Amino acid sequence: MLKRYKTLMDETILNYFRKLPDNTLTEAMAYSMNLGGKRLRPALVLMSSKIFGGDEAEILPMALAMEMIHTYSLIHDDLPAMDNDELRRGKPTNHIVYGEANAILAGDALLNEAFSLLLSNYAVKSTEGARAALRISEASGREGMILGQVYDLENEKKKADLSGLISCHNRKTGELIAASLTGPAVLYGATDEEIEKIHTFGIKLGLAFQIQDDILDRTSTKEILGKSTGKDEKSGKSTYVELFGIEKSREMAREVTSECLEILKSIDRDTKELSDVTEQLMIRTY
Ligand code: IPE
Ligand code: IPE
Ligand code: MG
Ligand code: MG
Ligand code: MG
Repeated sequence: MLKRYKTLMDETILNYFRKLPDNTLTEAMAYSMNLGGKRLRPALVLMSSKIFGGDEAEILPMALAMEMIHTYSLIHDDLPAMDNDELRRGKPTNHIVYGEANAILAGDALLNEAFSLLLSNYAVKSTEGARAALRISEASGREGMILGQVYDLENEKKKADLSGLISCHNRKTGELIAASLTGPAVLYGATDEEIEKIHTFGIKLGLAFQIQDDILDRTSTKEILGKSTGKDEKSGKSTYVELFGIEKSREMAREVTSECLEILKSIDRDTKELSDVTEQLMIRTY
């Protein structure tokens, strides 16, 4: 399901960075982008575009932008000041290869590059394009993903309760996933009701995804995941697994997944691809 989109994105990313001036910054940005990963967020952009009548070639820069924002968040997430990780997508993290300062700058530059793509391809062309870019900006920023990362760090110092965890996960993971869906929906003139539904679906999909991430951190291996495991426990972070244990967390992820599928059913469009991917993510192993 995700495979065709992953192949398309891997090629798009490779070609994009090949054309940029050859310097240390380009190299550091391209390094993390080209390591791979599931390409979930760009795949969701492409799926949402199809659902709301968009054109694949036209939406590709938005898909690329979402992967850039996601990858920047991972480079910074891995820094010593944050999760202090040395392995990402099966390879040494950006700061291990390029040093901390260059990793910070490569992340900064990916974020700016993403917004250059969104502004030049959509915002300057139509009001819907500008609204889509604004949504992505808000989802990534002060009230969205970045605030979620701040909550996540606070959860290493104090024990969170369920509502605290949901509030953290919805932001650090849900917001970018939701914006990958609402961006194309806004661009291609979905109704307010459809945008609201696809947003709620995305936030819940993100929550289920992060619960799984926390479970895999405890149960999987670094060979399968391509990143170090047991980190959350070591840092004393409040997670679903920490609060509820593996089995109950799995059950909760399944419940949220069912809610996702229910929302899709209530949207009067062809959402089959999205429901397939939602089910596939529930049983993911990496
Ligand atoms: C990892 O995201 C960070 C989280 C939000 C859980 P992914 O699991 O999508 O990472 P990649 O893109 O496949 O490497
Ligand atoms: C990261 O959550 C969420 C981001 C916004 C990057 P994690 O810290 O759990 O992600 P991994 O496990 O390092 O991929
Ligand atoms: Mg983290
Ligand atoms: Mg991390
Ligand atoms: Mg994790």
